[in-house]
Amino acid sequence: MTSSPEPALRVEDLEVVFSDASGVVRALCNLSFSLQPNGFVTLIGPSGCGKSTLLRVIAGIVPPTKGRCRYNKDHPRIGMVFQNANLMPWRRVMENVSLPLELDSVSRDEIRERARELIQLVGLEGFEGAYPRDLSGGMAQRVAIARSLMQDPDILLLDEPFGALDALTRERMGDELLQIWQARRKTVLMVTHSIPEAIYLSDRVLVLSPRPGSIVLDLQVTLPRPRTPDMHYTETFRELTHTLRDQLRDAETYQS
Ligand SMILES: Nc1ncnc2c1ncn2[C@@H]1O[C@H](COP(=O)(O)OP(=O)(O)OP(=O)(O)O)[C@@H](O)[C@H]1O
Ligand SMILES: [Mg+2]
Repeated sequence: MTSSPEPALRVEDLEVVFSDASGVVRALCNLSFSLQPNGFVTLIGPSGCGKSTLLRVIAGIVPPTKGRCRYNKDHPRIGMVFQNANLMPWRRVMENVSLPLELDSVSRDEIRERARELIQLVGLEGFEGAYPRDLSGGMAQRVAIARSLMQDPDILLLDEPFGALDALTRERMGDELLQIWQARRKTVLMVTHSIPEAIYLSDRVLVLSPRPGSIVLDLQVTLPRPRTPDMHYTETFRELTHTLRDQLRDAETYQS
């Protein structure tokens, strides 16, 4: 019998309270879950329930008020992609992608080599010299994904990466993200407001309650891989959609 591998991340009894001049906000409470290595997990929940806060805690940007995140290695590398690509407008695609390695002691040649490979992986070959102003929203997000992979992260956190894209581009980006994930095998945690996107992409969907966010459902997605668009029309997909919709019924902000 094989035992299951040690989780890449354990989130243990997390609580985050923000306090500033305007008052106190309890963003997360009693929040626990773990991520298996190389899995693809999505996070869905009402607006303001603490999803972005959770990603920031995992990335080490926000300290927890209580509880902790435990990783399966001492200094995990964590990549992050936000809803807006946040590219530097005065830098070309190549230099935007290279950025995370520029402060490391890596040679210029190696940085360029790695950046070129990733630009190819996200389908932007030929655009190395383009400026962000000349890219579509989908292309800019591809650059952001390539940049997040530069340091070969152990954990990739995506915060509504396709939220600003039109529906068709969004679906195509989802398929491309799955291909990248299959090629590079990362532990992925992605926030989305779209129920079909959550089901289509992930192994598990975690549903958060309204603020303070805690997990109210940990749903296994029983669709086989590789995922194909026709799976949207299967009975399993319909059932999973129902389950998530029921769970999110009281929340105002989600798409189905
Ligand atoms: N740095 C901060 N200081 C004070 N309050 C904060 C801070 N960051 C987040 N909050 C508050 O914590 C709560 C959760 O915010 P968060 O951005 O994590 O929600 P979210 O689930 O990502 O929402 P959305 O779906 O709209 O992106 C909100 O009430 C927000 O105002
Ligand atoms: Mg958010």
